[in-house]
Amino acid sequence: MTEKQERILIVDDEEAIRRLLHQKLSSEGYQCQKAGNADQALDELKSSPIALVILDIKMPGKSGIELLPEIKANHPDTAVIMATATTDTSTAIQCMKEGAYDYITKPFNLDEVVLSVDRALEKRRLELENRDYQQHLEQKVASRTKQLRRALEKIRGASLDTIFRLSRAAEYKDEDTGTHIKRMSHYAAAVARKMGLNEETVEIILYAAPMHDVGKIGIPDHILLKPGKLDPDEWQIMKQHTVIGAKILEGSEAEFIELAKVIALSHHEKWDGSGYPKGLRGSKIPLSGRITAIADVFDALTSKRPYKEPFSLEKSFDIIKESRGSHFDPKVVEAFFAVEDEILSIREKYKDEHESLLVRMASPVGS
Ligand SMILES: [Fe+2]
Repeated sequence: MTEKQERILIVDDEEAIRRLLHQKLSSEGYQCQKAGNADQALDELKSSPIALVILDIKMPGKSGIELLPEIKANHPDTAVIMATATTDTSTAIQCMKEGAYDYITKPFNLDEVVLSVDRALEKRRLELENRDYQQHLEQKVASRTKQLRRALEKIRGASLDTIFRLSRAAEYKDEDTGTHIKRMSHYAAAVARKMGLNEETVEIILYAAPMHDVGKIGIPDHILLKPGKLDPDEWQIMKQHTVIGAKILEGSEAEFIELAKVIALSHHEKWDGSGYPKGLRGSKIPLSGRITAIADVFDALTSKRPYKEPFSLEKSFDIIKESRGSHFDPKVVEAFFAVEDEILSIREKYKDEHESLLVRMASPVGS
């Protein structure tokens, strides 16, 4: 006989039965405890972990039938075998439906009792192992998911940071400020969200919009940095920053770079067809370009330029309103004013660190 770890609690109001089962199961190596009624059984269950309870169905006071759900609720890891008279097997079967593992009938065949106990404990062991495995698996999945999410957030953060820095490098060519691209890209995202674009697209716009002027890197300094007004030839070259930007950004498999290409090419198009480089009109202008245009222009209006102080908010809003249907898509203007509060808080959040601007576009606002 080998010593077994599992504790068995024998609950029966008859002392002779308790003794009989105790003797047999102890001889099989089980550690056995006894209880003569439901209250004693509950005390035993509270004081030490019990693997299996042999529970008499009929007892004075609280019966085994009444005790079973209490055991299942408070000690779910404890297996229960019901003990019943041969005449009452239907109740025992009902108990099994309510969570008992098995039932044994009186008078006991002790070998069958041992068999039933072994089977019940084996089933319990497998259930506990399975549950532990599931829990372990769930914890592992949750932990890996968390790690992946963190990694993804880091990559996204790094991507956005890289975009801002590279775009800022291009902006430095004409001494624009880094905060301009931050503000205008957040304005664009806010307007896009208001226009009903899904969060994924809004995020792509947020990533793509900062690159709208990346093509300035291809404009010669004597034009980009020329003090005073550009002549018509120089102006033609300056307008090429849209096309150059699109060429720099074309051919990428990354969705936000592809959208950045579209924005670079279309952010100076105007709703009435008077923009550049293609003179597209109305909805022929990609929506992302129409949205970026208003974000870019609003930021230019409210920022200091070498040739002007920042316009007041009131004046800037008036200009946007007046340009509804000429420069800007009326629906984009509508969305812009619907998120006016958000626009103002973005403006506040990304205030200029310094005011050194030299915007060289003949267009009165925006670059
Ligand atoms: Fe531009």
